[in-house]
Amino acid sequence: MKNMVYIQSGGPTSVINTSFYGAIKEAKRHPEEITHIYGSVHGIEGLIDDDLIDVGLEDEEQIELLLQTPGSILGTTRRKLPKDINDPIYAKIIANLQKHEIKYVFVNGGNDSMDTCYKLSLLVKQLGLDIVVVGVPKTIDNDLAATDHSLGFPSCAKFVINTVNALIKDACCFKVGKIHIVEIMGRDAGWLTAAPDVLPEGNRPHLFYLPENKFDLDQFLADVKAVYEREGYAMICISEGLQIPRDMSNVRVDGFGHAQLGGAATELCRIVEEKLNLPTRAVELSLTQRACPVFVSKVDREEAIKTGEIAVRTALNGETGKMIVFKRTNNNPYTISFELEDLSKVANAVSLIPQSMMKDVTRMDESFREYIRPLINGEVQLKCKDGIALVTNFKYIKVK
Ligand code: F6P
Repeated sequence: MKNMVYIQSGGPTSVINTSFYGAIKEAKRHPEEITHIYGSVHGIEGLIDDDLIDVGLEDEEQIELLLQTPGSILGTTRRKLPKDINDPIYAKIIANLQKHEIKYVFVNGGNDSMDTCYKLSLLVKQLGLDIVVVGVPKTIDNDLAATDHSLGFPSCAKFVINTVNALIKDACCFKVGKIHIVEIMGRDAGWLTAAPDVLPEGNRPHLFYLPENKFDLDQFLADVKAVYEREGYAMICISEGLQIPRDMSNVRVDGFGHAQLGGAATELCRIVEEKLNLPTRAVELSLTQRACPVFVSKVDREEAIKTGEIAVRTALNGETGKMIVFKRTNNNPYTISFELEDLSKVANAVSLIPQSMMKDVTRMDESFREYIRPLINGEVQLKCKDGIALVTNFKYIKVK
């Protein structure tokens, strides 16, 4: 008997369950080689606590709905594995891998989760176990190294772009307009924040503030004032990770060591009201941007399915310690190749927007727009009942 276990880790995306779908479909095509498809509940925690579910027992209809189900269907975690390979946690993981006769391990996550994946791959190699470990890329932040982009980013960017597009139309229709500050996720990387720069000129945000650039409050106030005097309103995109002057000492920190961000737009609006005496409105897109299935990009969905399939085939070929990466082979028409990269190159590394993609500190260069455009292409049809999008409900049958 040879079984596989699938782990979802870190923050969800609107297509994280889509790569899982691809992996399930591919695994079912190889019944000789994969006897059971297991899911680890709450990421690596499931392998530590012997909390696995048998995905093979879930109804086909529910598997199909994974394509439009937000969140991580298996549950997720931001637990960091210890550096010390002799830590008792590893003995628990190994015991559970052996107990459930697991030969194939998949970790679907971002740069911190690839650290988990990398550590697991080193562990099984060091112990000489017949187990392979493969990474499946995902993060709305688009900050995974060694890949053209990360699954989940295109759909999230599409949501952000379309939401800001609508907000601009709402913001510009008042006789006395406001200064709108939209706060967008992405932590230390500005990919998502900058995405609305692809909107056509005339319906494009006026200013962008990215974590890649040093934030100068006085310059920000001067820029905002100038836009307001010229346009009668302002639409400004800021990153949640922007280093604005505020006290962050009491902020909650997650298991990966990251502060829970948020509130930057509200704080900047407060400063604008105080210093410029102009009306403001803060909009924090927050979890809606990574959870909303409405603007899933067809490109993202198709790549997510294919990546899940390729991950399974990679494991069946005996490859281990690798993550699937995308290399852009052409931009127009857009084509990519799926390749493998050593986990040592992606674990914990961060990819930021290069300066060459910025026109200046508040606007993007055409090369950035060319990069984004093909990723957000194509729409997907949502299955709904009584006007409500259907989502997967698993039975979560525990593996004994
Ligand atoms: O995983 C990426 C991310 O979506 C970041 O963009 C964001 O800062 C973070 O997760 C927020 O996660 P949570 O609200 O789950 O702490």
